[in-house]
Amino acid sequence: MIQVVEAQAKAKNIVISSGNTTDNGGVNCCAKAYEVVKSGGDTLDAVIAGVNIVELDPNDTSVGYGGLPNEDGVVELDASCIHGPTRRGGAVGAIRGCKTPSKIAKLVLTETDHMMLVGEGASRFARMWGYPEEDLLTERSRLAWRMWKREMRDPNGHTNWESQTDAPPASRKIGSLKKEYPEYEEGLLAWAYEVAIHPPHGTINCIALNEKGEMSAVTTTSGMAWKIAGRLGDSPILGGGLFLDQDVGGAGSTGRGEENIRVCGAHTIVENMRHGMSPKESVLDCLTRVARNFDNDQKRLAAVDLQFYALRKDGEYAGGSLWGPPPNGRGGSRMAVCSDGQPSRLVDTVFLLERKA
Ligand code: GLY
Repeated sequence: MIQVVEAQAKAKNIVISSGNTTDNGGVNCCAKAYEVVKSGGDTLDAVIAGVNIVELDPNDTSVGYGGLPNEDGVVELDASCIHGPTRRGGAVGAIRGCKTPSKIAKLVLTETDHMMLVGEGASRFARMWGYPEEDLLTERSRLAWRMWKREMRDPNGHTNWESQTDAPPASRKIGSLKKEYPEYEEGLLAWAYEVAIHPPHGTINCIALNEKGEMSAVTTTSGMAWKIAGRLGDSPILGGGLFLDQDVGGAGSTGRGEENIRVCGAHTIVENMRHGMSPKESVLDCLTRVARNFDNDQKRLAAVDLQFYALRKDGEYAGGSLWGPPPNGRGGSRMAVCSDGQPSRLVDTVFLLERKA
């Protein structure tokens, strides 16, 4: 099977990423990365330049600047990257005060013989390379954190110290929120309440291939909202939120990192492709492993939001989510892609499970 894949492989210029629809982030990311690849730039420089757009966008509350903070109200970011031609990787975890953790992960890769720096050491490393300490909270993310703190007063309140996935599902009327937060408009309050009771995981993953068959990939995130300080998700874990072997392809993930780490998702998908599965089959197999960890109990899986993305060395790609598009509008996903001859765009992904009405 490996020989078959190699015989068919014909590299082309292509970039894929997670959808990140806020401000068209995924589409803009792929367009930027593609531009770098097309002009002959290095594939790692390309994917980092692409995700930097989303990291610096204060409106994307799952990545970089403006990302939702930890339970102390402090933004802690995770990122990892792999450079296919040199087979090197770098990662940072729980880094503070730096808007573009993907650039620091790249510095770990290029400037050290380590693979991962975390916490205070990672933040100091960024300062040493000239990245000033910056406040990453925006008014929007600060409001959401304040609202989450208030909801924690619920007598049945969930905390991160319990083994559950969601905050209390108490429903609040927008009018009562408006009384407590009179200075904010209703749409913003509704969004803040939603993320307070359903902590999102967000993230962007981006993978590039060029005509020479060179590949690189990056994943960057602010991680799970309201996490315990120091919590690392899957994004900085090479093999979890990101893996790439340019002899085969690359893979990455967005969504609930805890469930991805349990199946070493990105590594599993690349190894599936190595042994002959298509990108789509590889992603669906990985999602099947996640479901199995819940004994395929759809009630317990209902709270899990998880997506995988895969790009094979011949340019074939796929994205897949645990849940398909639901009647109530939550879950399901699209991905972005930019390839020779076509503009950067959103395309549908496959899914494992279907939500019932
Ligand atoms: N996938 C991002 C996280 O769970 O931190």
